Amino acid sequence: MKVLVTGAAGFIGGQLCHALWKRGDTVVGIDNFSYGNLDNLRFEDHDFGPDVLRMDIRDREKLPELFEKERFDVVYNIAGIAPLPDCQSDPVEAVSVNTLGLVNLLELCRRHGVKHLVQASTNAMYENETEFPTVEDKFNAPTLIYPSTKYCAEQFCRSFAETYNMNVTCLRFANVYGPHIDCLRKQPPFVGYMIRELYYGRVPEFHSDGNQRRDYIYVDDLIDLALRVTGRPGFDAVNVSSNQSYSVRELYATASRLMGKDIPAKYCETSHYWAKYPELYGGAYGIRPEILDHEVNKFSLCDNTHAKQLYGWTPQVSIEEGLARVIEAECAMLAARDAAGAQA
Ligand SMILES: NC(=O)c1ccc[n+]([C@@H]2O[C@H](COP(=O)([O-])OP(=O)(O)OC[C@H]3O[C@@H](n4cnc5c(N)ncnc54)[C@H](O)[C@@H]3O)[C@@H](O)[C@H]2O)c1
Repeated sequence: MKVLVTGAAGFIGGQLCHALWKRGDTVVGIDNFSYGNLDNLRFEDHDFGPDVLRMDIRDREKLPELFEKERFDVVYNIAGIAPLPDCQSDPVEAVSVNTLGLVNLLELCRRHGVKHLVQASTNAMYENETEFPTVEDKFNAPTLIYPSTKYCAEQFCRSFAETYNMNVTCLRFANVYGPHIDCLRKQPPFVGYMIRELYYGRVPEFHSDGNQRRDYIYVDDLIDLALRVTGRPGFDAVNVSSNQSYSVRELYATASRLMGKDIPAKYCETSHYWAKYPELYGGAYGIRPEILDHEVNKFSLCDNTHAKQLYGWTPQVSIEEGLARVIEAECAMLAARDAAGAQA
């Protein structure tokens, strides 16, 4: 099969390229490198870096030419602006990439007869849901910009699937963790941040009381499901979740034990949650404190019965095993980076 992976230089995109390539597919990767990097494309048995095209999913000149030339069977749209505060502080760019970029791809898939499009969606769109574990077809619409961009993107996926008989699957990822998780970005994901601070022997700053619980999925399990969904006709939305929740305190205790560290964490006011984004607190209308409280303390747990029953999928990697693998990879990366003289 010939497969296009967008966001190929990102945490998930790079590992998806690798899995598809190992399966024997011909993989074309594109990325605009707004977040991704070449390290995510380097594997022991293959380096995708030289072949990944520097291209934006919103490109309306070069992307049609690429579709015309390559005649893709499947498109995985993994590109996106993932950090919540980045989306919140630049909503126009967030909608442009996460929603309009996806629509650009859907229309190209339609014109060029792509057999299946898989969209990287998110369980963040369940932020206002109160039923747990949350099922795919019944939830309250989201509030924040990031999940709203993905929620709208899903509506367009459904629209194209129903209007044109296209095959489109939205994978609603839980919190994804694994090697290559970005621990160096302005607002790193919790797992990457926690390990980075432990590695440097610093006191990590968490928010609220640390008892807030979320569900997590290991990147290899996610990719296993992503490879299974492309045979199904029509539209589908699928939770990609372990259906198990862990608190901040539990994950920090496990990581500390695995790394042999004993550093009590600092638990801060939720009002400091996005302190690196002062623009969200200022302006004529600052962000409402209740919204921050809700985001920090929100509980997430997604039902994965649909993925199990329809796609014969079961997550394989336990949180302990998964964290151990991330710790090994992240510490090696930070050590190499330090040896090269970079600053964390
Ligand atoms: N990591 C998670 O926990 C998680 C959870 C739910 C959903 N998701 C979604 O999964 C996808 C991948 O997430 P990730 O963690 O690998 O993020 P990432 O930031 O590591 O990867 C995203 C990639 O997309 C690229 N990109 C951004 N805008 C682009 C554009 N306009 N054109 C082309 N490339 C562009 C970036 O440069 C980056 O390489 C995202 O769409 C994200 O919203 C991630």
